[in-house]
Amino acid sequence: MIRANENYQKLKASYLFSDIARRVNLFQKDNPDARVIRLGIGDVTRALPPAIIKAFHKGVDEMAHDATFRGYGPEQGYAFLREKIAAHDYQARGANISAEEIFVSDGAKCDTGNFQELFANDIRIAIPDPVYPVYLDTNVMAGRTGDFEDGRYKKIVYMDCVKENNFLPRLPEEPVDLIYLCFPNNPTGTCATKTDLAAWVDYAKKNKALILFDAAYEAFIRDDSLPGTIYEIDGAREVAVEFRSFSKTAGFTGTRCGFTVVPKTCQVFLENGGAISLHDLWNRRQSTKFNGVSYPVQKAAEAVYSPEGQAQVKKLTAGYLDNADIICKTVEALGFDYAGGKNSPYIWVDGQGKDSWEFFDLLLHKAAVVCTPGGGFGRCGNPYIRISAFNSRDNVTEAMERFKGALK
Ligand code: MLT
Repeated sequence: MIRANENYQKLKASYLFSDIARRVNLFQKDNPDARVIRLGIGDVTRALPPAIIKAFHKGVDEMAHDATFRGYGPEQGYAFLREKIAAHDYQARGANISAEEIFVSDGAKCDTGNFQELFANDIRIAIPDPVYPVYLDTNVMAGRTGDFEDGRYKKIVYMDCVKENNFLPRLPEEPVDLIYLCFPNNPTGTCATKTDLAAWVDYAKKNKALILFDAAYEAFIRDDSLPGTIYEIDGAREVAVEFRSFSKTAGFTGTRCGFTVVPKTCQVFLENGGAISLHDLWNRRQSTKFNGVSYPVQKAAEAVYSPEGQAQVKKLTAGYLDNADIICKTVEALGFDYAGGKNSPYIWVDGQGKDSWEFFDLLLHKAAVVCTPGGGFGRCGNPYIRISAFNSRDNVTEAMERFKGALK
């Protein structure tokens, strides 16, 4: 008899963004004339910049000739891309990361979801609340979280991120083994300082723990005092893995490319007291289960680091940040408190006591605007909604006009 992995029974019925899409489709069916504006899922809307498209085309053309055709590539990614990433994203900031420590992948969602496979089933895990659902759900699937009771999994150590602590997770009072952090944060849009991250690195070293640091939104940081990578912090090479993505940085949500940094100095411990290399473990996992990102896509990603590419992607993220500014000004004028929206494409709006799904429904039905209900990111996500700045200027401006009508 083929039996199910019953851990899946402990999950919410559907993934947050699938649930939202279903509700929006229903609304659209009932209101066929409504022009829905989507500020929900953080999906980019602007075209890939010209330098990237040019490199993408060239990569495709190379596949058309036997002399330049490529079959399987290295599972870890082509050296031409890994070297650019190491030089531009790390060494240029004084972070000591080499090309061999970078694993190119089809995106941060897959890597943040897959990485937990490397760890024992009885580790203690600390997860912020609210949180990007992938970190939690993949641990539920693996059977690490225990049952779901009163809105929480029993074996997870939740780190409440609320107004009182500026939406920054506090160090757990009990020892934990694996810590998920995300800055600039999805969903709250808040950023951690170097001092904040140094406290986490220190905690991880003392507890022989590991930090999984999701920096998918790093390209939106404009304040130079904020860390762009956890490896700007002394000692992070021993205790942190970093996930990055070209999705939001350069418009690759549909093209798929990201990378994970696993320093060779990170160790993972065995029951017999021994220690092994985390880098070797991830390499083993990737070479068994992953066959790399397509050559043209990696050529396109490489072009992000050319002088033209750098200028063009900066303009792309600047456009979304200008949208974020319009959203912040509007919600503030309407009398709502908010976090994020600076150094981040997400604005976390306090619904002033309204249940976040009710707030979501109100905006959908009165303004035909889609946001993301904070409750979908965890118990502390109530009563917030997350507004994404990923859309055209015209759509964001119109959505804000509709907000004024719906919320006045
Ligand atoms: C989000 O809206 O939180 C993101 O788009 C999700 C993702 O990048 O997978």
